[in-house]
Amino acid sequence: MAVYQIVEIGADVLREKAKEVKEITPNIVKLLDNMLDTMYAANGVGLAAPQIGVSKRVVVIDVGEGPVEFINPVIVEQEGQEDGSEGCLSIPGVTGEVMRAAKVVVEALNRKGELQRIEAEGLFARASQHEIDHLEGILFVDKAHKTHRNR
Ligand code: NI
Repeated sequence: MAVYQIVEIGADVLREKAKEVKEITPNIVKLLDNMLDTMYAANGVGLAAPQIGVSKRVVVIDVGEGPVEFINPVIVEQEGQEDGSEGCLSIPGVTGEVMRAAKVVVEALNRKGELQRIEAEGLFARASQHEIDHLEGILFVDKAHKTHRNR
C-alpha cells in the first residue's frame, strides 16, 4: 500500500492533457492500486492520475458502490442535465455548483486490458465527468457557476 501526495491547483500537471496508456504494464496496475489507496486515505470519491503528478489517462472512482477503474476513458453517450455540488482533492476547502450530464456511458479499459462499457448516473456520472475532465487539464472550478470557500 502506498499513499501519494495529492498535487494541488497551481501545479502544471493539473493543466496538461494526460497521455494515453499504450500498454497495461505491472506499473500501471501498481499505479491503480496506489491511486485507490490515496483516494480512500483522503476520503475522496474519485482521483485522476494527474492529481498525483502522473500525466496518464487513468482514473479511479468509488461513490460507495465499490472501486471502479478507468484506463483511457471516453464518454461515448450522455443524456440530460443535472446541477450539483462538487469538490476536488486538488482544491481543498472549495465547493461549487456544476451542471453535468445526468447520465453518461463511459468506454474504458480495465486493468486486464478489456474494453468495458459502463453506464453511470447520479453521483457516479458526476464523478466520471469530473475525473475525465482532469485528463484534459480541466478543473471543476472552470465550469462551476457558483463556488464557495469552506471554513
Ligand atoms: Ni478533482
